[in-house]
Amino acid sequence: MFELKNVTRQFGKKTAVDSVTLDIPQGQMVGIIGRSGAGKSTLLRMINRLQEPTSGSIHFNGTEVSGLRGQGLRNWQRDCAMIFQQFNLVPRLDVMTNVILGRLNHRSTALSLLGIFTREERVQAIAALERLGIEQTALQMAGTLSGGQQQRVAIARALMQAPKMLLADEPIASLDPLNAKIVMDALRDINEREGITVITNLHTLDTARSYCERIVGMAGGRVVFDGKPSELTADAVNEIYGTDKNGAGIDETMTSTSLDNIKGKQDAVSRVMAASAVMR
Ligand SMILES: Nc1ncnc2c1ncn2[C@@H]1O[C@H](COP(=O)(O)OP(=O)(O)OP(=O)(O)O)[C@@H](O)[C@H]1O
Ligand SMILES: [Mg+2]
Repeated sequence: MFELKNVTRQFGKKTAVDSVTLDIPQGQMVGIIGRSGAGKSTLLRMINRLQEPTSGSIHFNGTEVSGLRGQGLRNWQRDCAMIFQQFNLVPRLDVMTNVILGRLNHRSTALSLLGIFTREERVQAIAALERLGIEQTALQMAGTLSGGQQQRVAIARALMQAPKMLLADEPIASLDPLNAKIVMDALRDINEREGITVITNLHTLDTARSYCERIVGMAGGRVVFDGKPSELTADAVNEIYGTDKNGAGIDETMTSTSLDNIKGKQDAVSRVMAASAVMR
């Protein structure tokens, strides 16, 4: 069981996440939705400790995650693998090496820097790539792959960490509909077959509805909806997304695509932070 209790994060006077309390049983597939700035990314980043809560606590199976330091913290970050909108691969390294880097917290940094991998690690990496249907890309430079392929490499890398939880921050926001489906199907498959909890931020409501058994709606840093997709009524949607300035209701077909450029800049900082956590 994974629990967030009154988790709050302030940036100066801005409260990005405001007293969020959630209990998430192992193996659930949870979609977090909300407007830009609702606090979705900050919430995910606090879960794997890329960002610290200002107050509140996070527990996993009785251990207080928010108090972990040193090796304990590294083990936790291995247990909750994270994937991002922009994939965060090392573009000039081959796919196989990118995937094996997922095991950084299991192996010697010196060997990783020298690119010395064991046979077992290579076999595992190929198995993870096969699991995502992209084993034929193993020797290609990661930067030469399509976006959908790169996100699958990122998922394979996450699987190499043998995580208990997979956190995904807008994993399909940069992908076309076909690749978005392939990536969401892969996340669902991992959730169902391995029992790994998946918590994913999503901009598209229809994706959250069709893939997630539980939807958490955030607005202004708070949880304003927590329930099954079937319970997500028009009123609930309105509370999550609000109305636009002309007073019109939100259009459910709205996607994040049009926000990509702005988001790209906003997310640049978090990507650097995440990459440095991965490379540590
Ligand atoms: N490092 C930071 N410094 C200052 N303010 C921040 C920082 N990170 C986030 N914020 C602010 O906190 C609020 C929540 O941001 P967050 O990125 O969590 O939202 P989000 O729901 O992920 O939005 P989006 O859908 O655009 O990704 C925003 O008002 C944002 O400007
Ligand atoms: Mg975000």
